[in-house]
Amino acid sequence: MSKTHTIVLIPGDGIGPEVTEAVQHILAAAEAPVEWEHHVAGIAALDQGLEVMPEQTLDAIRQHGVAIKGPCTTPVGKGFSSVNVQLRKALSLYAAVRPVRSMPGVPTRFENVDLIIIRENTEGLYSGVENEVTPGVVMSMKVATEQGCSRIAHWAFRFATQRDRKKITVFHKANIMKMTDGLFLRCAGEVAKKEYPNIEYNHAIIDAGCMRLVQDPTQFDILLLENLYGDVVSDLCAGLVGGLGVVPGANIGDEYAVFEAVHGSAPDIAGKGIANPLALLMSAVMMLNHLGTTRDDNDCITVAEKIKKAYNQTLADGQKTGDLGGELNTKQFADAVIERL
Ligand code: NAI
Repeated sequence: MSKTHTIVLIPGDGIGPEVTEAVQHILAAAEAPVEWEHHVAGIAALDQGLEVMPEQTLDAIRQHGVAIKGPCTTPVGKGFSSVNVQLRKALSLYAAVRPVRSMPGVPTRFENVDLIIIRENTEGLYSGVENEVTPGVVMSMKVATEQGCSRIAHWAFRFATQRDRKKITVFHKANIMKMTDGLFLRCAGEVAKKEYPNIEYNHAIIDAGCMRLVQDPTQFDILLLENLYGDVVSDLCAGLVGGLGVVPGANIGDEYAVFEAVHGSAPDIAGKGIANPLALLMSAVMMLNHLGTTRDDNDCITVAEKIKKAYNQTLADGQKTGDLGGELNTKQFADAVIERL
């Protein structure tokens, strides 16, 4: 084995600690060349008397470059602002990548779904920049910058080229938000036309795009979206392939990368030991592949492949957690994957 990579591990809230523990077990059994440095964010940080997004956690990611994170709860309609928004902005993790694929042994309405969502992660309405203009009148700011729109467009087309993907579709609402979404669309179109003539490029107004997605998701390849649309469409797409238990994600910037599942802290099932750890495990596989390519470490890629084969075989054998119609709990599913490594 080559060198060991130090990974910042943030268990998060709700089901976060349950799924991160399962993933740690599987990576240890697979002899992944990683060691964990534990840090907190979210409610766990508040419980320790720290800020919700502690500076020492950010510093650890700056030092080690890579983190894996469980979901963090954000209070609805009140309370502190999202840990995820703070983290992505502070570390400039501007590209969220979310592969959405049909899984063996998980029957759904469509077969052969193989989509990748690329979401701009730092701008738009999702930034949560709001204020009260006067009592009874509140405002939410949608910010788009040419630099941010162009940066994510370049990233998406570069990614498509590296992965040999053929087509990028932008979902937008530039008919209504002519300036903000108009800028996003213009930047994507310019990058496509000037620099990537070999990648098919098209766009759709997001409402019609969503209808096409649920009619036939196999017509899409890469979807490129601004922040809020990417958030919403990610969960929609998760529903096409079996749910939030099977969609991983990565938040990538020029310097750092934080891997996390698309799902949230699932308060309805937290503490019961029944959450599906697969989405976070798949995120860990993305992390190993990222380490492999950015640090030239083939061992990481080999281990990633081994884990991927093992979880696909586990599902194909009908061994699944409750969200996918199976009977295993979190630990039993992790053990079933370990048996197949
Ligand atoms: P959620 O994704 O936590 O849950 C939605 C539904 O999916 C629930 O019924 C839940 O039980 C189920 N589910 C989610 N993950 C699952 C898993 N691994 N295994 C089995 N079932 C699973 O979304 P919700 O309820 O809208 O949000 C809960 C909290 O999570 C909120 O505070 C929200 O802000 C936060 N959140 C955090 C994210 C992050 O840290 N990246 C992402 C999304 C939401």
